[in-house]
Amino acid sequence: MLYQLPLPSKYNDLTEAELRDGILNLKRQLGTRLVILGHHYQQDEVVQFADFTGDSLKLSQLAAAQTRAEFIVFCGVHFMAESADILTSERQQVLLPDLSAGCSMADMAHIDQLEEAWPLLTDMAGGKLVPITYVNSSAAVKAFVGRHGGACCTSSNARLVLEWALDGAAPGNGTSGNRVLFLPDQHLGRNTAHALGWPLESMLVYDPKKPDGGLRPDELATARFFLWRGHCSVHQLFNEQHVEAIRALDEPYRILCHPECRWEVCQAADEVGSTEFIIQAVEQSPAGSHWAIGTEIHLVHRLAAGNPDKQIRSLAGIQCLCTTMYRIDMKHLYWTLEQLAEGNVVNRVTVDAETRRDAVTALDRMLHLAPTQPIAAR
Ligand code: 13P
Ligand code: SF4
Repeated sequence: MLYQLPLPSKYNDLTEAELRDGILNLKRQLGTRLVILGHHYQQDEVVQFADFTGDSLKLSQLAAAQTRAEFIVFCGVHFMAESADILTSERQQVLLPDLSAGCSMADMAHIDQLEEAWPLLTDMAGGKLVPITYVNSSAAVKAFVGRHGGACCTSSNARLVLEWALDGAAPGNGTSGNRVLFLPDQHLGRNTAHALGWPLESMLVYDPKKPDGGLRPDELATARFFLWRGHCSVHQLFNEQHVEAIRALDEPYRILCHPECRWEVCQAADEVGSTEFIIQAVEQSPAGSHWAIGTEIHLVHRLAAGNPDKQIRSLAGIQCLCTTMYRIDMKHLYWTLEQLAEGNVVNRVTVDAETRRDAVTALDRMLHLAPTQPIAAR
């Protein structure tokens, strides 16, 4: 995680109204030179200023579509700002209002660990090994995957990307055919492979903190999937007791959760899908529907506020909050825009040319397989 210097004290003395008016004035002043992107997990106090909202991939593509804007202020986390820099032109600059807004899951797969794991897994696993990385990973990891014949995926297209990586290998057809190294989220990997019909026994967890990933040579030869030992610290909080508590209620709640949740939770849920899937499922459901949702709390609250004719609650009684997304607030946004208006670019996120080239290869393979939906402004 990167370190963010504390802001000058004057920002702490501003009232909410002063911050809001100040940001709106600066937005007007910067005009078409500026675009603000906001991830669905951001606080409302930030989302109100976003020109576009979306999940991580949509926002990166939106960044790429903003050819007029010189500055893209990304209200999200560091790997998203990196993806935006990879997909935008050299002329455009991507800024993250608080540099310490990282992602604990992306931090669980360090490029040095991947470089150490790769020869072990390719030598011992037998057959072709295809690396797949969730977009929630560093640019360096994406570039490694691009260089080694693999692709990125998102939570909405992981199934298609896994099918591509397996290249016809199917459950029950023995151990020949491609194998997959899936990182950094073991849960998305497990949930997706299982949904494709693969048994849990065909999956091994590779732990980068243990010698040889904590695996024995005989296990390596039989596994189809190597799931990197990473997880989302927000979605992993949902558990089976939460599901049981919802099932015990009198109201007919449907349980809808993100595939970053544990396998047991996804198995017990009624529907499992990406952030965009969750939004669509709720918005398209009839009035009076009851939803218990297993995802980040700001999105759950926004869905509840936007769908007052439905009963919407978190799957958990506890607040499942992404603390790094939460670091982006009005004060940091104000400071970033004020600096821009004065001609200073602060908190720029850049990816070097070589990393960018290979990361684009991994992203392009994914986009070729699964073009995403057209994107609309808020
Ligand atoms: P998406 O933005 O792709 O839905 O991923 C969820 C998430 O955890 C973002 O960090
Ligand atoms: Fe990372 Fe999870 Fe936060 Fe998304 S919600 S940024 S995966 S920690």
